[in-house]
Amino acid sequence: MNTRIEPFKAIAISELAHRLKAEGKPVIHMEFGQPSTGAPQAAIQTAHAVLDGDAMGYWESARLRERISRHYQERYGVEIAPDRVILTAGASPALLLSMLAGFEPGDRIVMARPGYVAYRNTARAVHLVPVEIDCGPETRFQLSAQMIEALDPVPAGIVITSPANPTGTILPPEELEAIAEICRERGIRIISDEIYHGLSYGMPAASVARFDDTAFIVNSFSKYYSMVGWRLGWVIAPTDKAELVRAYRGNLFLTPPSLSQHAALTAMDCESELDTHVETYRANRAALLEALPRMGLNSIAPPDGAFYIWADIGHLTDNSMAFCERLLRETFVAAAPGLDFDPVNGHRFMRLSFAVSTPQVREAISRLEPWFAALKK
Ligand SMILES: Cc1ncc(COP(=O)(O)O)c(C=O)c1O
Repeated sequence: MNTRIEPFKAIAISELAHRLKAEGKPVIHMEFGQPSTGAPQAAIQTAHAVLDGDAMGYWESARLRERISRHYQERYGVEIAPDRVILTAGASPALLLSMLAGFEPGDRIVMARPGYVAYRNTARAVHLVPVEIDCGPETRFQLSAQMIEALDPVPAGIVITSPANPTGTILPPEELEAIAEICRERGIRIISDEIYHGLSYGMPAASVARFDDTAFIVNSFSKYYSMVGWRLGWVIAPTDKAELVRAYRGNLFLTPPSLSQHAALTAMDCESELDTHVETYRANRAALLEALPRMGLNSIAPPDGAFYIWADIGHLTDNSMAFCERLLRETFVAAAPGLDFDPVNGHRFMRLSFAVSTPQVREAISRLEPWFAALKK
């Protein structure tokens, strides 16, 4: 079964990008969704101070769990008991733990296609059966309550992501509530990946915590908090599953990194600095949404959040991997081939991440524009 686990195809593009960079080429990295900004200044200061005096043993910070619980109260108006918060080394283990604790081998778990590649592969790794549902522009590439109502047979679970990767689209609160309701009626357990919360350009994303206390909620310090390499995240487990998640976490991973937990506690009070990154992404998004149609890339769903643009390049290629490689070799702009996110239609899409600086986005546009113009001739 594990032979069906696929590698990230964007890694091959990234490796080529790094080789070209080592040769002195002016590469712009838009292939991965990672902020280039680093942790907030105060969080770094905390880390420096702690390094000198802490033995860094196995540890889960009770204060950080309480702070996360307070975050749900302040941001979403929802009470989450701190013992439902389980700290993990990023959203990736949080997702794994949710799948392990929430389901039995052989259970079917539904997810949107396009979607984040690790959903189907993590599900397979723990012997669940991923069922991908084609989601197009009509539902802004998201699962809808109507689709879930129509599922036959009824799956054991669904994964929802809002804002989504690779499209950045957000499920409006009414739709999220309708999804929670239909899942309750049909006995479907929700995993809600809320890793891009905090990164939105219009309405903020609602948390499924408002509508469903039986869901697993996955989140991380990798995106809004700009702490990718610190490897820290969390899962909010339903009350009846929290002990099981904690038992799995202990056996599989012991604890998350101590230094990161100290720094993250400080980072949670650095919103004014972190919001300046969101303003950068907002400017980058606007620049790309204005420029891409001029290049003939008209079929894009403007992202409500996250930092991605999912662009249809089907009029230019039926091989997004080869296309992204050529784009990189000729313009030194690295983009992710759509196949990572959609094994069926991804050959005609690419994803651009705008989690870079605004001057880099402008430079990328100035290279892409003539390149696409020449392609069309
Ligand atoms: C939708 C989604 N979920 C989870 C992850 C994993 O993030 P982490 O760095 O917290 O493990 C990513 C990473 O890009 C992602 O895009």
